[in-house]
Amino acid sequence: MIKMDKMSAGAGSLDAGYDWDRLVQEDRVSRQIYTDPVIFAAEMTKIFGAVWVYIAHESQIPNNDNFVRSRLGLRPIIVTRDSSGRVRALYNRCTHRGATICRQDSGSAKGFTCPYHGWAYSNNGKLSGVPWPDGYADDALDGDKFNLAQVARVDSYRGFIFATLNADAPSLDDYLGGVKQPIDEWLDRQPGGKVAVCNANRLKFDGNWKLAYDNAADGYHVVFSHRSLLAMENRMAEDKGMTYYKENPDGAPMYVRYFGNGHHFKDKRPNMEVRPGAMWEIESLHPGMEHVEEDFRRRHGDRANELLDLASSEPVNINVFPNLMLLGNHIQVVQPLSVSETDTTWWGTAVIDVDGDIGDDLEAINALRMRTQEGFPNFGEVDDLMNFEQIQAGLAAAEDEWVYMHRGLGLEEGRITVDEGGVITGPATDEVFMRETMKVYKRLMSDDPAIGITRDPDAGDG
Ligand code: FES
Ligand SMILES: [Fe+2]
Repeated sequence: MIKMDKMSAGAGSLDAGYDWDRLVQEDRVSRQIYTDPVIFAAEMTKIFGAVWVYIAHESQIPNNDNFVRSRLGLRPIIVTRDSSGRVRALYNRCTHRGATICRQDSGSAKGFTCPYHGWAYSNNGKLSGVPWPDGYADDALDGDKFNLAQVARVDSYRGFIFATLNADAPSLDDYLGGVKQPIDEWLDRQPGGKVAVCNANRLKFDGNWKLAYDNAADGYHVVFSHRSLLAMENRMAEDKGMTYYKENPDGAPMYVRYFGNGHHFKDKRPNMEVRPGAMWEIESLHPGMEHVEEDFRRRHGDRANELLDLASSEPVNINVFPNLMLLGNHIQVVQPLSVSETDTTWWGTAVIDVDGDIGDDLEAINALRMRTQEGFPNFGEVDDLMNFEQIQAGLAAAEDEWVYMHRGLGLEEGRITVDEGGVITGPATDEVFMRETMKVYKRLMSDDPAIGITRDPDAGDG
């Protein structure tokens, strides 16, 4: 049993009176869910407090005492691997008067000392000392009361660390459900089934966070929004990059899939053949490719294809509600800042030579992989962010209320299939995944979850 300081979400009272059946309908949603600061405040509890939210990757804190700064909604968090090896999500918020205690993005530390008045905490959250304690009455600092707040439930799935403040949330495994399969496939093509995160592209946009998530499996916008990127790719080589969007995307063998709990997946892999080297063949052109390819082919013969595939971006979009997207070789994290401001971070990932059979070529593979990972954030994501900002601008028009997501709705049977487990599959441009996610959103926003923190370093899942 987890000992938690339980509290009502508070958000329930904030947004009391909102008619969710009106705001979120089968074919459309109100602009208000993207523009209303009260709804945003409620989301920070009912979503970014009540469901499992991605906070960090284990490769960022490989050793005991490592830490990395993160956020859980708007809460500043320090993700630590404490001195005993347990991964924790500590609130980066001094128990004294509230200052952040850690102001460095990542590092290694056995504890954290608040820069304001010097209160010190171990990396498991326990208060370890205060300056001039004789200024406090004898028992004033006893017990857990002044330990850092921390998230009682922190768990990871194959390197991805998630946290939730909701004692009633399902296990992480159950929460992820069907989306574990594409995550497994994404990892299992790497040696040892692992990646390490490396550097990141960071892009902020003036728009609501949901605009990024709505777009995450949207195959409808690509030919229009990314026209210049596609034109550039096709000018250099006819069959590279996202050429499968060129004609009618619904005529291509790709599909969009919905797993439940807001998780979805756009799988473009059926556009390529299943054989070593096929992924490399469709990779867009990047600086340095020819040189590495020539070198690998000369030295490795047939095996060059496998090595080159490791540097290629996998044509998938795997989206874990509410804030984690795996696309190409990236881990993209969405971080809400306000109702109309959002950070997106595109972490690159590196191959790890787990069994030692890549040897000296690892550096060339990861350097090339970094080149393949620079492409989309620079040439594609800017198109998307412009859309998000222009939607936010358009939604300022208060009398024009509705945002439609009804593409595919009411069409003939067979367009969309639902398997026995409830997994839905549809054509690449269908908006079924958005409609299903909005049903989950509506359920979460209508709930009043009992979320809470703990100050007991021994509490929680461990
Ligand atoms: S606010 Fe941290 S020691 Fe005072
Ligand atoms: Fe896009």
